[in-house]
Amino acid sequence: MQERDEPVRLLFVCLGNICRSPTAEGTMGVLVREAGLEQEVELDSAGTGSWHVGSEPDERATAAAAGRGIALEGTARRVRAEDFDDFDLILAMDLSNVDELRRMARSETGRAKVRLLREFDAASAETGDLDVPDPYYGDGDGFERVLDHVQAACAGLLEQIRAGQLR
Ligand code: 4NP
Repeated sequence: MQERDEPVRLLFVCLGNICRSPTAEGTMGVLVREAGLEQEVELDSAGTGSWHVGSEPDERATAAAAGRGIALEGTARRVRAEDFDDFDLILAMDLSNVDELRRMARSETGRAKVRLLREFDAASAETGDLDVPDPYYGDGDGFERVLDHVQAACAGLLEQIRAGQLR
């Protein structure tokens, strides 16, 4: 890994910050801890919407993640203007999140930090379908699909961090 003074700061973003982005934060947290990179990588998550601010992660998301040994933590918060300064990468779950984040950013530098999480999954990147579908109103399988997508993408993200390819 490249020598850096500052940790890499990653913000995972979805709509409500109760299903997909806490799942991504928890998943990446496990990978970062397993890699011994807790000092090098900082993680947080947020939502573009405010309906669930202060809520714990969705029980269905929490149960699905627990089934894979991943604990979901924290309470929902909304994306803030300062996030575009404070984080190195803002990792959106779907294209509607990307649109909203680009609208919220106050500068082109901030907008350039917004990426789709699944861009970091090489296998998905080739297919062109890079959304992590919103599981909130769907059947229970949706939460397993979220985990499949998120685990693949976070593994790719970790590889890029290790290779010093971020920044
Ligand atoms: P998330 O899921 O964006 O993955 O946290 C959702 C949570 C709540 C709602 C939509 C999506 N909602 O409409 O309340």
